[in-house]
Amino acid sequence: MKTFTVLLLFCHIAFPMKHSLKFILTSSSGISSFPEFVAVGVVDDVEIGYCDSNSERPEPRTRWMEKIIQNDPQQQDWYTGQCFKIQDNLRANIEGLKQRFNKSEGVDILQRMNGCEWDDKTGDIRGFIQFGYNGDDFITLDLETLTWVAPTSQAVITKHEWDRERSKNLHWKNVLTQLCSNYLKKYVTFGKVFLQSTDRPSVSLLQKTPSSPVSCHATGFYPDRASMFWRKDGEEIQEDVDHGEILHNHDGTFQMRVDLNISSVKPEDWSRYDCVFQFSDVKKDVITKLDKAVIRTNHVPPSEFPVAVIGVVVGLLLLLVCITGLFIWRKMKNNGFQPANKIDEE
Ligand SMILES: *[C@@H]1O[C@H](CO)[C@@H](O)[C@H](O)[C@H]1NC(C)=O
Ligand SMILES: *[C@@H]1O[C@H](CO)[C@@H](O)[C@H](O)[C@H]1NC(C)=O
Repeated sequence: MKTFTVLLLFCHIAFPMKHSLKFILTSSSGISSFPEFVAVGVVDDVEIGYCDSNSERPEPRTRWMEKIIQNDPQQQDWYTGQCFKIQDNLRANIEGLKQRFNKSEGVDILQRMNGCEWDDKTGDIRGFIQFGYNGDDFITLDLETLTWVAPTSQAVITKHEWDRERSKNLHWKNVLTQLCSNYLKKYVTFGKVFLQSTDRPSVSLLQKTPSSPVSCHATGFYPDRASMFWRKDGEEIQEDVDHGEILHNHDGTFQMRVDLNISSVKPEDWSRYDCVFQFSDVKKDVITKLDKAVIRTNHVPPSEFPVAVIGVVVGLLLLLVCITGLFIWRKMKNNGFQPANKIDEE
């Protein structure tokens, strides 16, 4: 059964029929720990770009998107413009809604999701735009009739206002079908290799001091649908484990860590532990055994310190001998056989 599921998944990855480009925009008021505006662009469930009210410009989130933006400054400008424009629009919308619902304080969240789906077999394109207010569906544009659909009575006033703006609704139709599908086709073609490929991470074990937790650190992996955990005797363990978040690298790949507190692990039990990195839909696990020999640390154990210093000193002395030797040899070669003490005078 498991093989079957994996096979189906694989088929899904190898021959996708429907592609989608979605922009998910969230505007909030009254939440201090969260940016007032957050926008993400998503292609086939992979995040391709991000901007928020603190960003100066949208950031590409995949390597292929970074390339597209580099080669097409117009697109970068378009996204930058959109990021600022939509922020202002949604802020105005949320203020309007607060007034209408008599809310002077508290948390308000207005979300907009718009985009398009493209069936690469039939060529069908479907655009969509919908709003949600405080977690409920608020209003949706019917692209056939170019009228807004309000599932709750609260949105009826908005519906009547927006239905009258016919040219704006027509503009939406163009954006959501033509412009969106042009971008989507471009992204799918360009990103095909990347959307369907995975990069395995390089995994290392890091430790600050011999008593600190051992950090299993994976970097350079793609996509971010991945998890990492520690096992003991092949079983995942939760105790003494601290999971880090998945973070972005500048090249579009990701990094993540999971720490194991080894203070209660006996030295003879170390070999029973390993760290596993796993993609959620691909069998490409990276397994790293807990082994003192492979742990990387900046910490120099005090007992080894003199040995290390002696090593360095001996190394330097050897180097000096070699250089002097080379010098003498070249001098002798250039000037014929001269006494070595001549060199000291120069
Ligand atoms: C809004 O609040 C004012 C004053 O508190 C009240 O008179 C009015 O009826 C309220 N409107 C709604 C829609 O609740
Ligand atoms: C590791 O575990 C020990 C005891 O189980 C605890 O005293 C210590 O604070 C833990 N260290 C960290 C970094 O959590």
